[in-house]
Amino acid sequence: MDQDPVQHHNARFGILTVSDRASRGEYQDLGGPAIQNYLAEVLISPFEAIANIVADDRAAIEAALVELADQQQCSLIVTTGGTGPAVRDVTPEATEAVCEKMMPGFGELMRAVSLTKVATAILSRQTAGIRGQCLIVNLPGQPKAIGECLDAVFPAIPYCIDLLNGPYIETNESRFVTFRPKKK
Ligand code: MTE
Repeated sequence: MDQDPVQHHNARFGILTVSDRASRGEYQDLGGPAIQNYLAEVLISPFEAIANIVADDRAAIEAALVELADQQQCSLIVTTGGTGPAVRDVTPEATEAVCEKMMPGFGELMRAVSLTKVATAILSRQTAGIRGQCLIVNLPGQPKAIGECLDAVFPAIPYCIDLLNGPYIETNESRFVTFRPKKK
């Protein structure tokens, strides 16, 4: 019997909003729902999204990332917020602390694209990395940054998840074309 190497099981994606005010309920979380809407718009393969909100606290961010990657087995976690220069902005440090490998190209590309929209793009230290079979990508907290940044890096994300032996992710090609150097 032929073995199908393509894994069609549902992909799980984590969405992590990092914000002191949103975590206290003083501010409506706009970033988390914006990421969820983005995924619903661009993905045509089935997925499940698990969303959480934490304060700008390094231990809390690390614990939430570990829970989503290890216990919930997310193939991708997208964070929003906490990437800037302020004292409480520690999302990149928390991301680096839980990852085995960093993927600096994500931050480089997102900053380059954002710079065509806003001069303060260079204030974001957003990065990405790999924990086990999970890709973690940081986005700035501005809701409008979410689509701008994800449009730049998402074409490479399905192949990155393939390389981590994750589920086969398919995107709406009228939105953008996913790049896979090798077809599965
Ligand atoms: N990138 C995009 N695409 N759009 C934005 O509005 N805001 C910048 C930057 N990157 C922004 C952006 C600003 S003003 C800051 S301070 C940093 O992201 C960090 O934001 P954060 O601390 O909310 O993550």
